[in-house]
Amino acid sequence: MKKNPKQGIFITIEGPDGCGKSTQAEILVAYLKTKSIPVILTREPGGCSIGEEIREILLKPRGEQILSDETELFLFAAARAQHVRETILPAMSIGSVVIASRFIDATTAYQGYGRGIPIESIRDVNELATGGLKPDLTIILDIDSEKGIHRARGVNEETPAGEVDRIEAESITFHKRVRNGYLEIVKNEPERCVLIDSDRPISEVSGDIMNCITERFDV
Ligand code: TMP
Repeated sequence: MKKNPKQGIFITIEGPDGCGKSTQAEILVAYLKTKSIPVILTREPGGCSIGEEIREILLKPRGEQILSDETELFLFAAARAQHVRETILPAMSIGSVVIASRFIDATTAYQGYGRGIPIESIRDVNELATGGLKPDLTIILDIDSEKGIHRARGVNEETPAGEVDRIEAESITFHKRVRNGYLEIVKNEPERCVLIDSDRPISEVSGDIMNCITERFDV
């Protein structure tokens, strides 16, 4: 039986930098609102005031100063722990659909495949941060790494023109490992994750996302 929004549905939208997830998340939220379905749009890192403060620490460019891979992992996890408890679970408990731009899979793709921290450690840290919460559906938007990075570096409301955030500024080989990580995640969890080619017109991508949603949920 299809899950009903009243039961609280949790959908995440993921993908490499520049895959267009913010645009698609907004389109999805607008669509659900036209159906009078209660919905919140949130993001990671962020989604609550403590999460947004941690986001700043994580994303601001640091020049010569190095944030260790382990510090980075725990900061993403700390932001998530707060976000789950302060924002996601309370919204689900009152029957809201929660759409999150990034969640556990970003940590697997970026800190696991990208930085090289063992995947089993990432799983354990994610488990602790989320208390076991998993998305009902994860849409992974796929994009060629060069194209994605080109897009991401051109459009970013949080950094002035010409500046990129600390993670966008990573090498193209890092971003290729991240993309590969996402492809592995879809292979390993085909029930939960759906891969969608995002190198197409926005309306075609959003059409595919809507189809996924209506196939799985009673919306
Ligand atoms: P975004 O909100 O613009 O996608 O920026 C978030 C950045 O943080 C993006 O480069 C992906 C990265 N990130 C991780 O490396 N690990 C994580 O767990 C999350 C949530 C994001």
